[in-house]
Amino acid sequence: MVFRWITCVVGLGMAYVATSLDAQEKDTRSSTHMMISDPASLKGDRAEAVYQSIKDTLRQQYMNSGDPVTAAFQAWRRPNREPYRSGVHGQRFVNHYANDVAQDYGVFKSGKPFPEGSIIVKDSFAVTETGEVMSGPMFLIEKKEKGFNPSSKDWLFMMIKPDGEIVGITNGPGASKVRFCANCHNQAPDGQDQLYFLPKSVRRYN
Ligand code: HEC
Repeated sequence: MVFRWITCVVGLGMAYVATSLDAQEKDTRSSTHMMISDPASLKGDRAEAVYQSIKDTLRQQYMNSGDPVTAAFQAWRRPNREPYRSGVHGQRFVNHYANDVAQDYGVFKSGKPFPEGSIIVKDSFAVTETGEVMSGPMFLIEKKEKGFNPSSKDWLFMMIKPDGEIVGITNGPGASKVRFCANCHNQAPDGQDQLYFLPKSVRRYN
């Protein structure tokens, strides 16, 4: 049983890698015109400094999608201290932002479902082996009204490429391309309402 679960997660991981690679090609065309030295050891304050210098560029690029959240999310609460490398998001550096409705996201209380209107966004960037900094996709989840999509506990998933192209939206255009998001988030531990939360090492709050 445990083995089957692991196989399933690995399978989903592979599907995700394939999609990330596709997005990676887009990254290549979305250079931020920034080079850094010693990319392999990028973390902590240095990763934060890189992020601060490209943050605005990321926002502008996502805004090409026309989705209103893209213009607003970077002013929301960011519960991570610094960007961190996410293995399940194509080894990109990511940040999380939560809107006011999702206030419990920041303090990582678990046990009760998030209210309708909760939105959590990740922006992302990648760094190549040669130190070139690339824009990465934006990932979003939003809690919709009860009955919106029972198989994802009513969360809507959306992914926007760095050129502003919307890859897919749950129950909307390209829905099949974001189904793998829910498949993996459905495996999150009980009592976390399909969310995974931040690694403890980068949390600003407990
Ligand atoms: C293979 C598993 C997996 C897949 C597929 C996946 N995620 Fe996640 N997601 C995670 C994990 C683990 C975290 C928390 C740690 C991290 O960011 O690496 C997370 C965190 C998030 C968060 C922050 C909220 C939270 O859960 O803490 C958002 C938003 C998000 N993912 C959106 C998406 C979207 C949109 C997709 C599809 C395009 C997607 N994810 C696909 C595993 C996955």
